Amino acid sequence: MTVDLRRDLVAALANFYEGHADAARFPMLAEVGGHLGEALRTDSVEDPEPVYLPVGQLLAQIETESDADGVTEVLRAFVAAGPVLRWIQTPSYAETLPQNFLNNYGYVRVVGPGGLVESTVASAGLGIWGAGLHYPRHEHPAEETYHVLHGSALFQRGNGPWEPKAVGESVHHDAWERHAQRFGDETCVLLWAWTGDVAVNAQLVPDGE
Ligand SMILES: [Fe+2]
Repeated sequence: MTVDLRRDLVAALANFYEGHADAARFPMLAEVGGHLGEALRTDSVEDPEPVYLPVGQLLAQIETESDADGVTEVLRAFVAAGPVLRWIQTPSYAETLPQNFLNNYGYVRVVGPGGLVESTVASAGLGIWGAGLHYPRHEHPAEETYHVLHGSALFQRGNGPWEPKAVGESVHHDAWERHAQRFGDETCVLLWAWTGDVAVNAQLVPDGE
């Protein structure tokens, strides 16, 4: 049963990336989708022990129906599998960010190190950020594409303007490009994908740097 829920999530994400209109702009999406599809073909979806985080309670606030390309299938699979997934937080964030942020933030890795699909070259998963959170400026060596699946957020790249993004829209970050997010008035679900150096976690950029 739980294996099926995990496999359904892997399949939903594989479908999302393999057919997505953004794949032409961001070739990394096909790479990530390919790893997910290969895991399904070779029946190599892992079955890790679930780990609960307080943010899991926000799953109940997610409205899964959406007109945006591929979003409904991913959200349905995510909400169904949510209670049996391994929820994590970036370890350095857990040491430095305020308790309100930590109570309303967490993610699951669908592919990547320790994910439902093991990979050392691609990583992707789903994260939840509660309404109104500010995710401070951070950076990582992996190239990244985000898709907004629920709610909305403002995204800042480098020292650029804060750009509003709604469900179905994507944001791309180059390796080491600094970025920050401010979440809107609904629970936000972001799908992220990384390629390149996926073993190195994101780190916050100290104020003033
Ligand atoms: Fe990022």
